Amino acid sequence: MKFYVRTYGCQMNVADSNEMGRHLKANGLAETQDPDEASVMLVNTCTVRQHAEDRAFSEIGRLKRWKAKLPGRKVVVTGCAAERTKEYLEDRFPFVDLVVGAKSIEDFGQLAQRLIDRRETDEELDYAIPSTDDKVAEFVTIMRGCNYSCTYCIVPYVRGREIYHSMDQILGDVCDRVREGAREITLLGQTVNSYRHGQYRFADLLQAVAAVDGVERVRFISPHPYYMTDRVIETMASEPRICESLHLPVQSGSNTMLKAMARNYTREQYVKLAGKMREAMPGMTLSTDIIVGFPGETEEDFQQTLSMIEELQFDWAFIFKYSTRQGTPAANLECFPQALIEARHQRCLEVVDRIAFEKRSKLVGTCHDVLIEENNFARTRSNYKVHIHGDVAPGEEIRVRITNAQRATLEGEIQNGDITSENFPHQDHRRVPRA
Ligand code: 5AD
Ligand code: SF4
Repeated sequence: MKFYVRTYGCQMNVADSNEMGRHLKANGLAETQDPDEASVMLVNTCTVRQHAEDRAFSEIGRLKRWKAKLPGRKVVVTGCAAERTKEYLEDRFPFVDLVVGAKSIEDFGQLAQRLIDRRETDEELDYAIPSTDDKVAEFVTIMRGCNYSCTYCIVPYVRGREIYHSMDQILGDVCDRVREGAREITLLGQTVNSYRHGQYRFADLLQAVAAVDGVERVRFISPHPYYMTDRVIETMASEPRICESLHLPVQSGSNTMLKAMARNYTREQYVKLAGKMREAMPGMTLSTDIIVGFPGETEEDFQQTLSMIEELQFDWAFIFKYSTRQGTPAANLECFPQALIEARHQRCLEVVDRIAFEKRSKLVGTCHDVLIEENNFARTRSNYKVHIHGDVAPGEEIRVRITNAQRATLEGEIQNGDITSENFPHQDHRRVPRA
């Protein structure tokens, strides 16, 4: 018996899908990349913007025919949209066998066991090989939920308040992933750096994860600027295994908007923070999320966002069109016409793309240590994806020289030897052998 997973939304959902996949594998199912040979279809949904929810719902609608093609097929719908619209989903798609909301992901193991009719599949179970993940770069969830209430955001409603995994559980998960072949660990949480457990804070966790045998690289997403403390920055700067790259959502460059969004920092504080981090980690990449067209955003507010992008020179950024989420505080505010939101989105993208491309172009000729994730694809410590020409095995760390910068990817050639000719101005010199 095989299962197929379709994931919508953020990295948290990808990690949840992996976790649910592990439960299904523990029950003797094998993962497939082909929906036609699957008996269980798992759709992990997102509701952060209306568009994401609509896409998941039309996918679920199409599964009625998929399910009817073979007896015994099951459809499982999970995640944030499932949490938000459980009753609606069950009414509109009565053929769905199981709905598990984002708050109940940790119960998925038990629920899945009940779903899979063992009598029907015992024979197959004997032959199913419980496979494990073998990815080089893996995610480990350290906390769930969010204690913030940014006025546009549905996440606190569908994922609930923060709960933190213990250090022991997290380190155990890290060891499991390393045993399965992972070399790079990305710690995950909605406001990942607000982590606390007993006397431990996020910086302690970072240090502990970086010290796990076999871990070569550590990253984390998504941090909140408020918890980007000096201690976290110092830990990032001094621990060679933590990558010098950060995705730090800013949302807007206007203090009026930041206040209306209840983000808990000002533009000036964010700019200062970015400066502090870049000073501590020369050559780090900084990326961000931005929302355009939030209710009440004037042309002047929008200009402030554009000027902030210019000022901070983000290495890349995701620009989102504001989407009203029912039940959030901002849903009571008057929304702009879609055409205005579209126009600002386009203008913002142009600035972001131009700067991102300028930055990428400057990398041509420079050398980097990259970790091979899959055949011919590698990642720099600064989190650029590089296409490599040559024969390389996943999990290997090699040195490459960037030969070409495209809009979406960099290309690199394997570099052997002559490091004196390397001209990357921000080369990381901190890699030291483990004591
Ligand atoms: N509309 C548009 N973008 C949103 N985001 C979160 N909620 C909304 C919304 N209602 C964006 C934020 C966040 C990212 C994951 O999604 O920029 O950082
Ligand atoms: Fe949403 Fe704000 Fe929490 Fe991020 S910090 S998940 S944007 S409420």
